[in-house]
Amino acid sequence: MIFCYENYKLFEEGSWLYKPVKTVMEQLSLLKGKRDIRVLDLGAGVGRNSIPIANELKHSARKVVCVDLLPSAIEKLSRYSKEYDVEEVIELENSDITDYQIKQNEYDYIVAVSSLEHVASESIFDSVLKKMAAGTKDGGLNCIIVNSEVEETDIQTNERLDALMEVNIKTEDMIGKLRSFYNGWEVVKEQVKPLKYKIVRNDKEVLLKTNAITYVVRNR
Ligand SMILES: C[S@@+](CC[C@H](N)C(=O)[O-])C[C@H]1O[C@@H](n2cnc3c(N)ncnc32)[C@H](O)[C@@H]1O
Repeated sequence: MIFCYENYKLFEEGSWLYKPVKTVMEQLSLLKGKRDIRVLDLGAGVGRNSIPIANELKHSARKVVCVDLLPSAIEKLSRYSKEYDVEEVIELENSDITDYQIKQNEYDYIVAVSSLEHVASESIFDSVLKKMAAGTKDGGLNCIIVNSEVEETDIQTNERLDALMEVNIKTEDMIGKLRSFYNGWEVVKEQVKPLKYKIVRNDKEVLLKTNAITYVVRNR
C-alpha cells in the first residue's frame, strides 16, 4: 500500500487531511479531569489526529507518541508539530507498528486509524491488538478504525482487482475478532460504514469499496 502525503497539506480544505476523525476527537471528553495523559497513535501519518489531540490536551498531556513506518510522514509530522506549537508533547517513533514495544499499562488513549490493516499478516494484527489492550491503563480507551471486506474494481474494464490491503477479512470476522480481544471492556462505539471511493492505481481509475469499522472501547 502506498501512502501519499506529497500532494496534500495537513488540514487543507478538500483533502483527506482536512480534519481529524470526529470519533477520535470526541473520546477526549472521557479523559477530562485526568492529568499526565499519555496517548499513542499507531500509524499516525502526518498527524491529522495526533496534532489536534496534542493541541486539545496541551495542558494535561504528558506525551502523544506517534508511530509510523514512513520516514516522510514522520518528518512532516515533526514539522507540523512545530508549526502548530505542540512539539513539546509529540514524541516521534519511526517504526513498524509490529515492532513497536507498547509499554504495559502505559496509555490513557490508544488510537489506530486506517493503519492496523497494513501490518503484514492477521497473526501480527492479533498480536498488535493484544499489545494495545495490555498497554492501556484502567479506564483508558482504544479507538480503532479499520477497513474490512475491501474490494477494488477497475472502473474502465469492470475487472475485479486484488485489493492492496495486507489484512483484508470479512466485516463479520473483524467485528468478532475485536469483540473477542476486548471482551470485558465497555463498548463506547461500534459502527460499520460502507464506503466507496475512486482512487488511481498504476494510472488506472479504481473503485475501492470497503466496510470501515469504528470500534471504541474502554478498559474497566
Ligand atoms: C491511511 S494512513 C492513516 C494515517 C492517520 N492514521 C490518519 O488517520 O490520518 C495509514 C498510515 O499508516 C502507516 N502504516 C502503514 N503500515 C504501517 C506499519 N506496519 N507500521 C507503522 N505504520 C504503518 C502509513 O505509513 C500511513 O501513514
